[in-house]
Amino acid sequence: MIRKKIAAGNWKMNNTQAEAIQLARQLATTQIPEDTLVILGVPFVYIKDVQSAISGTNIEIAAQNCHQELSGAFTGEISASMLASMDVKYVILGHSERREYFEESNELLAKKTNTALSQGLKVIFCCGEALPVREAGSHVAHVKTQLEEGLFHLSADDLKNVVIAYEPIWAIGTGVTASSDQAQEMHREIRALLSNKYGTDTADQMHILYGGSVKPGNASELFSQLDVDGGLVGGASLKAEDFKAIILA
Ligand code: PGA
Repeated sequence: MIRKKIAAGNWKMNNTQAEAIQLARQLATTQIPEDTLVILGVPFVYIKDVQSAISGTNIEIAAQNCHQELSGAFTGEISASMLASMDVKYVILGHSERREYFEESNELLAKKTNTALSQGLKVIFCCGEALPVREAGSHVAHVKTQLEEGLFHLSADDLKNVVIAYEPIWAIGTGVTASSDQAQEMHREIRALLSNKYGTDTADQMHILYGGSVKPGNASELFSQLDVDGGLVGGASLKAEDFKAIILA
C-alpha cells in the first residue's frame, strides 16, 4: 500500500501577522511533490491571511485545537463548526503541550475528536510518551492507552479521517530526535494496534506521522522508514527554507 507522505507544520504560538503571511507566501512557491501533502498548523487569528497567501496551491490548513462543544458560553474558545465554516480541513488534537498545560485527558480528546469529525474536519491526533515512561520501558503501553481511550471508539469509516502523530515528548523542541529505529518501532506498534482493532486494510490506509525535532538533516532518514508517513514539525516549520527542505524529503 502506497500512502501519500504528509509534511505538517505546527507553528504553535509564534509569529506576528506579517511574519505569518510572509512565511506562508514563501511556502506557497514550493514545488510540492505529487505524492506529498503539506499542511500548515497556524494560529486561529491568521487562518484567513494564510488561506489568502496559499490560495491556488494544494497546501491545507490545520487549526491547532478546537473545543469539544459546537457553540455556547465558552468565552475565548473556538469550535469545530467555526473552523469548518472557514473552510479549514484539519485540526490538531491532543498535542502533548495541550495535554500537559491545559490538562487535556484522553476522555476529553475523545469528545473533541467526535465533535471535529462531526463537522467534517480531519483530525491530526497526537500521542507520545515522556522520558520517564520510555526509560521505564512502558512507552508502547502508554501510547496504546492514549489511542484506545482517545480514538478506538471510532468506527473504521471515521478513523479514516484521522491522521495519527507519534510525538515522543522528550524529542519535542529539545533537539533530541528519536532515532529512525525508535520511530519505526513505535509506528509499527501503532499500525499493529490499528490492525488488531480495525483490520489490516484500515491499518494500511492510516497515516502515522513522526514529530519531535524533525529537521532538514534527519527528515529523509525518518520518513524513509516503512511505517513513517511523514512528520509533524514544530520549530523547523517556522523557517521557510527548512520546512521546504523537509517537504522535499
Ligand atoms: P518540534 O515540535 O519539531 O519543535 O520538536 C514538534 C511538535 O511539537 O509538533
